[in-house]
Amino acid sequence: MFCKRFLPVLKYRNRNTQSIQIRTVQISVIGAAGDIGSNLAMLLKFNDKITRLHLYDNDEKVRGVALELAYIPGGPAVAAFAGEQHLPSAVRDSKLVLMVSRVARKLGSTREQMLASNAPPIQTLCKTISKHNPEAFLAISTNPINSIIPFASTLLMSYNCYNPFKLFGITHIDTARARAFVGDALKVNPRKLQVPVIGGHSDETIVPLFSNIHPGGYTIDANRADMLTRKLRKAGVEVIINKQGMDSATMAMAWSINEFTAAIVNAINGAEVTVNSYTANPHYGTRFFSGPINVGAQGIIETCCNFNMNNYEWELLQKSLPVLNRDITQGEEFVHVVESSGHDYS
Ligand code: LMR
Repeated sequence: MFCKRFLPVLKYRNRNTQSIQIRTVQISVIGAAGDIGSNLAMLLKFNDKITRLHLYDNDEKVRGVALELAYIPGGPAVAAFAGEQHLPSAVRDSKLVLMVSRVARKLGSTREQMLASNAPPIQTLCKTISKHNPEAFLAISTNPINSIIPFASTLLMSYNCYNPFKLFGITHIDTARARAFVGDALKVNPRKLQVPVIGGHSDETIVPLFSNIHPGGYTIDANRADMLTRKLRKAGVEVIINKQGMDSATMAMAWSINEFTAAIVNAINGAEVTVNSYTANPHYGTRFFSGPINVGAQGIIETCCNFNMNNYEWELLQKSLPVLNRDITQGEEFVHVVESSGHDYS
């Protein structure tokens, strides 16, 4: 039985929506020698609106990745940057910095382990961006996203360069998967669908809204919605199991980050676009929240705030909020652990 519920309509609007004419769009990919990064770089090479691609990795192999792409005719010019001393040059002048580097999630990896392995490179990047390119859009796909984005925002705040309208957790994979599932279930073209996925990015916090498929007229019944919700929440783990426990999703991650990036590039060029992203968003009682957001040339214009949900979705959301709050606090507090560890990762 479905009934309509409304969340309070609050506005979280970026007043700075003035559009600007930009002719060059340089993008940096951090972690470009990895499986996500190199697949992503390949897809970005086909985007003619990107003029220059800076591929960065600690691994020297990134030079080979860049060379291969440079030999593909057309598209953005490609340059390689290997080693931490070249990180400032890799990010300088980029409109968008994409952080896709991570220690791959393995079966049984805890969120604490993921945070401990993946936070230090985020610290290095935040410190470098604050010194060398504080105006850039920064988008991060590194897990655990629920904690990593609050971690990055707290760090950027301490470096006096936090702009909540320009920091994104890339959760576009969740809506990409939800669209694939719905396309398969209803035998329709998933590329033409929008399926909002709200909450966070973990088994307990992903909340797909199958009652909000756009364009309207597509219906997923209650049993199927439950089945697809469980499947979506387990999708990341299923990939790890099928990769024999050794790696998590890479190609679909690259595909979804590319779709996210294509939209952000259009935004940087003055369009107003919608992407699914985990950002500062106070509308649901957490400091950060994932869902469809509108983005323009100066960053986020508006975050999601008032979906009509059925009872099932509403209850999923209510269960996810305390978990999300715990994850957010854990990320914010992890700054003290990293800053007091004595390492200077910059
Ligand atoms: C996923 O949902 O599969 C991703 O979060 C995988 C990853 O480790 O980047």
